[in-house]
Amino acid sequence: MENFNFHVTTDIRFGKDRLSELPEVLNVFGKKVLLVYGGGSIKRNGLYDRVVQLLTDNGSTIVELSGVEPNPRIETVTKGAQLCRAHQIDVILAVGGGSVIDCSKAIAGGTFVEGDLWENLVLKRRYNGPALPLVTILTLAATGSEMNSGGVISNMATQQKLGMGGKNLLPKASFLDPTNTFTVNAYQTTAGSADIFSHLMENYFNATPGTDVQDGVAEGLMKTVIKNLPIALKDPENYDARANLMWASTLALNGLTGSGKQGTWSCHAMEHELSAFYDITHGMGLAILTPRWMAHILNDVTVPKFARFAKEVWGIQDENPEQAAKKGIQALYDFFLENGVPMTLPAVGIDTEKDFEKMAQQAVAHSTIATSAFVPLSEKDVVAIYQACMSESTFV
Ligand code: NZQ
Ligand code: ZN
Repeated sequence: MENFNFHVTTDIRFGKDRLSELPEVLNVFGKKVLLVYGGGSIKRNGLYDRVVQLLTDNGSTIVELSGVEPNPRIETVTKGAQLCRAHQIDVILAVGGGSVIDCSKAIAGGTFVEGDLWENLVLKRRYNGPALPLVTILTLAATGSEMNSGGVISNMATQQKLGMGGKNLLPKASFLDPTNTFTVNAYQTTAGSADIFSHLMENYFNATPGTDVQDGVAEGLMKTVIKNLPIALKDPENYDARANLMWASTLALNGLTGSGKQGTWSCHAMEHELSAFYDITHGMGLAILTPRWMAHILNDVTVPKFARFAKEVWGIQDENPEQAAKKGIQALYDFFLENGVPMTLPAVGIDTEKDFEKMAQQAVAHSTIATSAFVPLSEKDVVAIYQACMSESTFV
């Protein structure tokens, strides 16, 4: 296990009927609030009205930024930062999924950055400057953005989707009420669960030895998703299923399973290019890529970890490690398929290979997958993995 710091200070307020605590949490920072939300789901399910009522009763001044896109755009970040400066905002309140929270993080830092925010904030990737305090109300179990310091911003003009972050962007507090996810539709519920699963897998399939704690926690969280996703799909208002998915989302990417390991993530680097070029849903792209990536990197060195994954996560008993590994990959593929993931790229609207080389170049250029991944990936490898996603697959 490598050395690490673990200092994640987000004040988590988990559970139902906790929203009355919101004013007290916000008042620590001030009364001028930028309320950030997406395309209207919070208006349809009543959360917007409850938040506005609470803030109004609290005597807060509310400035709104609505319409944050899934795969949030740099233009929206810029607009938010301008609002913060113009209204001398004290605190940002993000109400939504990962996109709203990520956009709010970029606004929190971008308020203090001069000039073009794509050039001077996102392209820099790490931001250590000042930031407005951020409080979140999570409405979708997926990204873990509610308890980490990263964000992902898209620039459709340049076909780039890049992660950025810094410790000052970590949310000060996050309200995690599972009932706020009851209205998430089946597609987004599955996509969110695939994202949680991928965060766990990206940390799990890593070359650092001696990480029993991280791997055991990851296996437990993967099993949590496997158990609770089908329940949430069948019964969207099942509180415990939603609660377990929500807490799994947070723990999958708050440093718990990634600290102490070295090396970069592969599927996220490849997925960000799919989203940058075709604006697809992040979790769906990951679900499609992951089994093909696994099959691509299965070799004599990696097979023990794959066999462990098959046994511990899927309960597969097979004395032959390679057979066990392949059955584990198949089990993951089937799980996604059974829970509604369109498991090919054409099924999510990418029916041509024309951009694969350019996407592979960018995936390698924007990350360190060619040097520090579990199994390093060249541009050629990335193209082969994209190509394997063009039709249905079997692995055993
Ligand atoms: O925009 P609204 O109307 O709110 O609708 C959203 C959106 O259409 C809807 N939704 C959210 N909560 C809902 C709801 N619909 C009904 N009821 C609710 N309670 O769901 C749709 C998707 O929302 P979005 O926020 O885009 O989803 P998600 O949370 O999966 O976030 C995806 C973004 O996060 C980035 C992804 O790349 C992508 O841009 N990621 C952020 C990470 C991080 N900050 O740590 C890590 C991840 O790996 C990921 O890259
Ligand atoms: Zn992700």
